[in-house]
Amino acid sequence: MMNFVSDIHNCNVIELTKIQNPAGNMSIIQNGEHLPFDVRRVYYLYDVPGGSERGGHAHKDLYQLIIAASGCFDVIIDDGKNKKIIQLNRPNFGLMVIPGIWREIVNFSSGAICFVLASEKYSEDDYIRNYDEFLTYKTSEHAS
Ligand code: TYD
Repeated sequence: MMNFVSDIHNCNVIELTKIQNPAGNMSIIQNGEHLPFDVRRVYYLYDVPGGSERGGHAHKDLYQLIIAASGCFDVIIDDGKNKKIIQLNRPNFGLMVIPGIWREIVNFSSGAICFVLASEKYSEDDYIRNYDEFLTYKTSEHAS
C-alpha cells in the first residue's frame, strides 16, 4: 500500500520520446528511463463499441501508463475529492495513473486503441471495484 494520500494532481500526462521519420514516427518506452516504474504487463483495449465505458475501478498498488495508441478517448480520474477529465488523442503522450485513483474511460472514437503499460501482473486482489469502498479506502489512506 502507498504510504501517502494519492491525488489526481500526481497523475500527469507524459510526453514520450518520438523519432520522427517521413516514413512513419516511432515512440519508445524503456524500463529505467522513461517511466517511474518497470513494466511487468501490457494490455490493450480495441474494438470498443461506441458509447462503451471501461474502467470503473481503482487499484491499490498498480501504476499504469495509458496511451491512445490509435484514435482518442477520455480518461476521468478521481481521488475521492477531485476529478478531472483528460483527453488522450496522440500516441506519443501517456497518462500516468498512480495507485489509489478511481478511473473511467469513456468517449472512445471508432478504431481507438487504449494501450496500457502496468507495473504489476494482473491481480484481482489489487482492484477496488465499488465506489463506496473506494471512498472508505481513501479515508483509511488519510489515517495511515
Ligand atoms: P478490467 O480491468 O475490469 O477492464 P476495464 O477496466 O478495461 O473495463 O478487466 C476486464 C476483465 O479482464 C476482468 O474480468 C479481468 C480480466 N483481465 C485479466 O484477466 N488480465 C488483465 O491483465 C486485465 C487488465 C483484465
